[in-house]
Amino acid sequence: MGDIQKIFEHNKIWADKIKQDDPNYFIELSKKQTPEYLWIGCSDSRVASNQVSGLRPGELFVHRNIANVIVPTDLNCLSVVQFAVEVLKIKHIIVCGHYGCGGIKAALELKEHGLIDNWLSHIRTVHRTHREELNGIKGQDNRVNRLCELNVIEQVANVCNTSIVQRAWNNGNELSVHGWIYNMTDGNLKDLGVSVNSLEQVCETFRFGSMLR
Ligand code: CO
Repeated sequence: MGDIQKIFEHNKIWADKIKQDDPNYFIELSKKQTPEYLWIGCSDSRVASNQVSGLRPGELFVHRNIANVIVPTDLNCLSVVQFAVEVLKIKHIIVCGHYGCGGIKAALELKEHGLIDNWLSHIRTVHRTHREELNGIKGQDNRVNRLCELNVIEQVANVCNTSIVQRAWNNGNELSVHGWIYNMTDGNLKDLGVSVNSLEQVCETFRFGSMLR
């Protein structure tokens, strides 16, 4: 029980310190949230979205899963995206992967890991698409890290291929989708330069709205 009790002790110190600095902080924050960003990242405990982005509670809406995957049949992730885009009216969706991702490593291994292999099959699909490039890279760590980047790029496309994001663009809403990667060994974020902010940038095969016009 000691380890669990420690969390409550830390919580009290944290809450008291904030209230000391600003007695109305929690009251004000509890009234509403107005985040401009949705973060879709890995569940890895070392990639703490608020800390690495420097954003305070109320400024970042967050969805995390193993290896930051966006699948169009995942109601959990899609509900987060819909709420963020349509209700919170966030302006930026950030898909953030990280180098050395355990999920990506596992997806490159020729062995079984149990149920999670079904989830990681989405990563294997990314691997298959880029097999030639990945086979040309020397060293397993380098291959893993490149697949971490390629996965982010594919997941940015998956976000853009959702009806939710495309409807927002069709309605003229300002919305950008970005692909970033975090380096756990130095704490730095890197923009992979694959940002998308309009329907015209989406592969025609996946466009909904414009096909009907
Ligand atoms: Co990870």
